[in-house]
Amino acid sequence: LKDHPVANEPVLEYRAGSAERAALAAELQATAAVCEDVPLVIGDECVREGAPRLQPVPHHHATKIAKYYYASEKTIQRAICVATEAQVRWDRTPLPERVAIWERAVGLMAGEWRQKLNAATMLGQSKTAVQAEIDSAAELIDFFRFNVFFLKENAKYQPISENAQVTRNSMRFRGIDGFIAAISPFNFTAIGGNLAYTPALMGNGVVWKPSDTAVLSNWRIFNIMREAGLPPGVVNFVPADGPTFGRAITASPHLAGVNFTGSVPTFNWIWGAVAKNLDKYRNYPRLIGECGGKNYHFIHPTADVQSVIKGSIRSAFEYCGQKCSALSRMYVPKSLYEEIKAGLLSERDKLKVGDVSDFKTFMGAVIDDKAYDRITGYIKNAKKNPKNKILGGGEFDNSKGYFVQPTIIETTDPHDKLMTEEIFGPVLTIYPYEDADVLNALALVGSSTRFALTGAVFARDQDFLKLALEELKYTAGNFYINDKSTGSVVGQQPFGGGRMSGTNDKAGGPSYVLRWTSPQAIKETF
Ligand code: ALA
Repeated sequence: LKDHPVANEPVLEYRAGSAERAALAAELQATAAVCEDVPLVIGDECVREGAPRLQPVPHHHATKIAKYYYASEKTIQRAICVATEAQVRWDRTPLPERVAIWERAVGLMAGEWRQKLNAATMLGQSKTAVQAEIDSAAELIDFFRFNVFFLKENAKYQPISENAQVTRNSMRFRGIDGFIAAISPFNFTAIGGNLAYTPALMGNGVVWKPSDTAVLSNWRIFNIMREAGLPPGVVNFVPADGPTFGRAITASPHLAGVNFTGSVPTFNWIWGAVAKNLDKYRNYPRLIGECGGKNYHFIHPTADVQSVIKGSIRSAFEYCGQKCSALSRMYVPKSLYEEIKAGLLSERDKLKVGDVSDFKTFMGAVIDDKAYDRITGYIKNAKKNPKNKILGGGEFDNSKGYFVQPTIIETTDPHDKLMTEEIFGPVLTIYPYEDADVLNALALVGSSTRFALTGAVFARDQDFLKLALEELKYTAGNFYINDKSTGSVVGQQPFGGGRMSGTNDKAGGPSYVLRWTSPQAIKETF
């Protein structure tokens, strides 16, 4: 790695007694003490309209940390005009000037803003310090650094000029004339930063709808970029009601692309609305979506049991199973089942669930009341179905925060909803299979769901691993051998899924930046 021109941001550990823990604790207190006013920002104008809305702390919902506003349809249309106009000027800004803004932003994120970002992520999205640090510090910084690196690398390519005295061929990377709508999720602050600011880096104007449940952390990113010198209007901060926003952007003739992370039904709706409006547009809008998963661990009889147990607990329950990559279905051979089950249950019992401001907490609350109802609905149904057995957890309580205990369920039905639908919560379902049936069990991985985001296979048998690599080829955009399905690192494991998990444009990889440019080939004749 020493020779690599760009490095990943080191992850701070927040050990007891460390200066970083003290700084974060102080920032948590300061953030919890104020309900910060978060306006819409269109160009350089702050807008406050309609009834203010409040962002609660999921593990203590009586506490509110931000007051924000929903943009009306008219305001969204104004943001679209501002972004579209700003794009033309911004796209003329020389690359070194653009890059300098990103570099200044990285300095702010790694320095004085680091704990402010982490505190907003911990309180607003109920992440532990470690989970916030790998997201709103390390991954966010990595996206910014690596995207600049990939942009420069891609720009190095120039087409051949056979006779340079007579003609010179060149390529330039233009933004797309129009605006990009960025619609980002709650579960990673870094994804908000990537979705809104990578198109901007490439010369586009952006209208950004952050998630309601990540408003404060996303607002802090927006402020960092302003402080770093991004001109007003290039990115506009526009929280809004989803359907109103969706209708406004897809009805605009200026739509040049949608950068989306969220659910399949929403992405399908956007795709359908774009299809209906094609006659209106000046561009074919780029549609980039990451839409969810039903991520798996497939365990072979030769697997190392301890790494299965450790990896599965972390993948299924870190951040309450709300990472897009989180493990939610497991295939375990009966010969290892009792040992794995006992190990998982004993590790599960050690997990501390509660307030994430306590540095000993492993898991906070799930994001909001809707998530709580959805996840607990699956657990309630599981309790009623004789094919399913709750092995551990299954309790929940929303009196103070949206708490769902880490839950492990055994099923005899590999096609049960628990094994095929995205739950997006701390629920792990295990299907024990007969060892002799290993190939049929392997076939179930790809045939029982249309998702293909992440997956892992645990085995020591090298022949089986070769076979699995082929059999499971299309079942995961991020595939792990003898490691858990979560924890991709920008620049190391470019992230994204195929099939109905999304367009697989690989955030944190070299081709992502190219999706946000409309290159022009120029032949000059002398
Ligand atoms: N990139 C995140 C992970 O792999 C979602 O866990």
